[in-house]
Amino acid sequence: MTESSKENELPVNEDKFYGDAKQFWGKMPSTVDGMLGGYETVSPKDVAGSKSFLRSLLKIGKSRGKTNRKRALDCGAGIGRITKRLLLPLFDTVDMVELQQSFLDTAKEFIGAQVNRVDRFICSGLQDFVPDVGHYDLIWCQWVLCHLTEEHLITFLQNCQKGLAPDGIIVIKENVSLSSETKFDQNDSSFFRSKEDYVDIIHKAGLNFVKVQKQTNWPKHLYPMYMFAVR
Ligand SMILES: C[S@@+](CC[C@H](N)C(=O)[O-])C[C@H]1O[C@@H](n2cnc3c(N)ncnc32)[C@H](O)[C@@H]1O
Repeated sequence: MTESSKENELPVNEDKFYGDAKQFWGKMPSTVDGMLGGYETVSPKDVAGSKSFLRSLLKIGKSRGKTNRKRALDCGAGIGRITKRLLLPLFDTVDMVELQQSFLDTAKEFIGAQVNRVDRFICSGLQDFVPDVGHYDLIWCQWVLCHLTEEHLITFLQNCQKGLAPDGIIVIKENVSLSSETKFDQNDSSFFRSKEDYVDIIHKAGLNFVKVQKQTNWPKHLYPMYMFAVR
């Protein structure tokens, strides 16, 4: 991205965009509440929605899902809320990639006994991260893709596609704006995109849709949230 962003001509410069987000998250407490901006109470609903979304896609019990459950990657993993509550109960091993080393340090305690099944704690921005080719059955990206420019998001998704094992899937779970206009949030340096924006970006990255669902059982005062399974 240049001084004048493609996204609504927003006056953001790339170093400042990523630097401000790093600063914002550097000040957030290493707790579930810190990860969820004060909305810790929604975590169980969020995880339940994710589990039910995945059930038909994964090889579990009598499900017709085709996706294996060997290796998952948690992107923008924070202290490991999703790794602990969603991914480790379903997958043999999980890798975590996260911008803040302090969150990864906390994760080692927060995850508890199952932490020995976290293979790699990778400290990196997603804009600089490339998954190993053919490695992951599931790549989970939640509440973090808003922190990538459109250009980096497209490249990141293309790299994730290459990082999938046979029958693997990428899941994007993000808040969506009700307005068609992408807004820039200076507070945490993120883009607030509409559902249509995500669909457009996924198309631009050349990925195919496997399943799309709105998070249900969600507080009315919060923004709607969508899950996109793509490959
Ligand atoms: C809203 S929290 C969500 C954490 C976790 N996904 C969850 O749902 O519990 C956003 C996380 O993304 C991380 N993050 C922000 N920008 C990032 C980037 N460019 N690359 C990787 N992680 C980033 C933050 O440090 C923070 O841990």
